[in-house]
Amino acid sequence: NTKACLFDLDGVIVDTAVYHFQAWRRLANELGFDFTEHQNEQLKGISRMESLELILGWGNVTLSEEEKVAWATRKNAWYLDLVMQMTPDEVLKGVPEFLTSLRADNIKIALGSASKNSKLILERINMLDYFDAIIDGNNITKGKPDPQVFLMGAEATDCKPEECVVFEDAVAGVQAGKAGGMKVIGVGSADILNEADFVIAGFEEMTIDRLF
Ligand code: G6P
Ligand code: MG
Repeated sequence: NTKACLFDLDGVIVDTAVYHFQAWRRLANELGFDFTEHQNEQLKGISRMESLELILGWGNVTLSEEEKVAWATRKNAWYLDLVMQMTPDEVLKGVPEFLTSLRADNIKIALGSASKNSKLILERINMLDYFDAIIDGNNITKGKPDPQVFLMGAEATDCKPEECVVFEDAVAGVQAGKAGGMKVIGVGSADILNEADFVIAGFEEMTIDRLF
């Protein structure tokens, strides 16, 4: 019996993945290399510092811990420049309608994101008020595919894992939800998200009855 829905942010509520990609690419370019959109897929759901490690590996660049922190800070500033230009019409199609229908059915709504910028983004797109709980990169000690972020979401909404449904666009996020013992609905491509219970292309095709 589903009592809560736990939503990833980037790529589920709003497409910030394109802004992350732009900012990471700028970092790579300034360090003298480039990477593809295909490689970018591996960065989805992964923390800022883990993403940096992967990217540096692709470019065969070695940095000291201090330099890593400096580059990650720079990337975040470039990313936030893009985030500050976001508007509420960037919310992905069907999301407000689906969240409104959850509220009407007394199903709790929580955010489960690796991002440390999640509240800022939800404010920019006018979506903060929909959420009963927000668990993000500021609360967790273990990133996806570890289930911690979603287990904390279950706890914050007073639900058991088996009463929660996770919405995820990232392979690591789908794995996190499954590891937490939850039903997981992938948002995106069924080829990439084949570990999800089922996959939707977008929220226009999502209805409450598919939660059960
Ligand atoms: C989400 C995104 C990742 C991003 C991570 C950390 O999980 O999918 O691409 O690296 O959040 O985001 P932050 O805003 O804290 O850098
Ligand atoms: Mg995501």
